[in-house]
Amino acid sequence: MNASRRASADGLYVGLISGTSMDGVDAVLVRIEDGGIQHLGALTHPYPEELRRDLHRTILPQARLDLATFSRLHVEVGASFAEAVGSLLTCTGTSASQIAAIGSHGQTVYHAPLGAHPYTLQIGNPATIAARSGVVTVADFRAMDVAYGGEGAPLVPGFHAWVLSHSTDSRVILNIGGIANLSLLPAGSSVPLLGYDTGPGNCLMDAWCARHRGTAFDADGAWAGSGTPDEALLQELLKAPYYSVPPPKSTGRETFNLDYLDGVLAMPAFARLSPADVQATLLRLTVETIARDIRRPGQDVASGVFVCGGGARNGQLMAALSTRLSPLPVTTTAALGLDPDMVEASAFAWFAWMRLSGRPVPLTTGTGQRALLLGCVYEPTPGYAAV
Ligand SMILES: Nc1ncnc2c1ncn2[C@@H]1O[C@H](COP(=O)(O)OP(=O)(O)O)[C@@H](O)[C@H]1O
Ligand SMILES: [Mg+2]
Repeated sequence: MNASRRASADGLYVGLISGTSMDGVDAVLVRIEDGGIQHLGALTHPYPEELRRDLHRTILPQARLDLATFSRLHVEVGASFAEAVGSLLTCTGTSASQIAAIGSHGQTVYHAPLGAHPYTLQIGNPATIAARSGVVTVADFRAMDVAYGGEGAPLVPGFHAWVLSHSTDSRVILNIGGIANLSLLPAGSSVPLLGYDTGPGNCLMDAWCARHRGTAFDADGAWAGSGTPDEALLQELLKAPYYSVPPPKSTGRETFNLDYLDGVLAMPAFARLSPADVQATLLRLTVETIARDIRRPGQDVASGVFVCGGGARNGQLMAALSTRLSPLPVTTTAALGLDPDMVEASAFAWFAWMRLSGRPVPLTTGTGQRALLLGCVYEPTPGYAAV
């Protein structure tokens, strides 16, 4: 790609993602240029309650969906993403014509990159988003990586490195969403050394909290803080095969869900545990699996851990991580000038900019360092009204 084409991709971008927590669509407005990224606005657009319930049912391991329902969800999620764009443009006083492109992650409904026919599937029809918003929409970022033998996740380490790496400090960026993933950023390099999913972030705590307290998450980890972690339960949970798979690796709710937890809790030894003790143990599980990965033998020793994603709002979790990783400093990406709630959505704005400027994205999801051109471009046709 020549330099003039690259320069022409600079401008305003919208990044959209709904992660494995399915809590809503995170939307950011940023200005991206060769030299960096500037944040101009952000919001989270909740899914309509019925759609959220349908999506949660869809991803259950035993889910059986007919194609008509699946296709409807694809369009409904796309419509919800388009609404998020509309709200973001309204609240930032920006018009669609000012936006160079939208980068949409969509909603992952199934992630199976290791089978005989590897795939990862994100829904949220990009044509719906482009037609309704009137903005060029870049989407389907993960499929090409999987087609070339990567796992399609996590894709964000390249963005983390571009925006957060440092000339003399080696950093770990830790995103604690439904699933937790980390990026190892060596000092002085604009490409990540390694990035992978450590296992459950908030997803098990969310599901246990929903079952016993009827709320989507344990605010600030207060309920977990009222219980006592059980060492024997923690050790049983740590026997899940995923934790001993060498990185790079990725996972999802297909593996880490209440079936995994219920299977272990069925052992008679755990019958006496209160739901709060189980929640406290799940928080420890997230901390322990993350800490073991950060301290993995042979890995570069970082000078600091910077947390992003919803887990950064969980005070109990952050405190337990700090204690477990001490003396390594643990803080949030806010210390680096990046709002922890905006990091992942910003990455998808950046992926759109990378796609429109013809730049391959550095990836760590397969064997060795690779860089691939990611994403498909959906262009609206002026003069037509979206349905
Ligand atoms: N105030 C809070 N206290 C504790 N946990 C929180 C809080 N706010 C958000 N979270 C957690 O963060 C999750 C959402 O994080 P997010 O980064 O959006 O994840 P994902 O990318 O999987 O959607 C929620 O499901 C919840 O577990
Ligand atoms: Mg989310």
